Amino acid sequence: MKVSASFLSSKDVLKDIVKLNETDVDFIHLDILDGKFAPNRSLPFSELKHIYKYTDKRLDVHLMVTKPSKYIPLYASLNTQYMVFHLEVDEDIEEDLKLIKKYSIKAGLAIKPDTKVNELLPYLPYLDIILVMSVEPGFGGQEFLEETEKKLNELRDLLDTYKIDAVISVDGGVNDKSRKYCDKADIVVSGSYIVGSEDFQEKITSLR
Ligand code: DX5
Ligand code: ZN
Repeated sequence: MKVSASFLSSKDVLKDIVKLNETDVDFIHLDILDGKFAPNRSLPFSELKHIYKYTDKRLDVHLMVTKPSKYIPLYASLNTQYMVFHLEVDEDIEEDLKLIKKYSIKAGLAIKPDTKVNELLPYLPYLDIILVMSVEPGFGGQEFLEETEKKLNELRDLLDTYKIDAVISVDGGVNDKSRKYCDKADIVVSGSYIVGSEDFQEKITSLR
């Protein structure tokens, strides 16, 4: 299992990013919130663009914004491996996926807890990654929704049926207890469980 670390709930962002760089974590998960898609705001791009000075880990960018097309070019300029935005936005989804791929970055969609996996069907051929949210978007430190396990099973079946080679990521409330519901995923995103602890590496290892 790959592990992506979110610092959304970090008390000292820079210190935690440097500490994460010393672990074997696979990605740094960058939660971008515009205050409209969900009731929270992340640090502005003018600050986040300096992240490469503190870590050489590749980034896994999660856009929780109503207008992804405004943010894609900004975050495509960082050391980004994956970029996902939400299926629930009002923009032209295919166009936004194409825009991400224009920068040679792996593109995908995220779905909120109430969104059914079948709604991904029209976009499956364009997806390199699908992020299944296991909490409502907005904040770290929420409890994992157990019904996510069923959704991950359905999504894995869908990808097998249509022979789609996309990775599945699960995001929200992942810790040593909820990890058992995530076996069908390829990447687990975990925030407060890792950055709220003393020993980041031990927590990361427990999720693999
Ligand atoms: C929630 C974010 C998640 C979150 C993960 O809106 O997308 O990435 O910060 O943090 P934990 O693991 O604390 O739920
Ligand atoms: Zn996230």
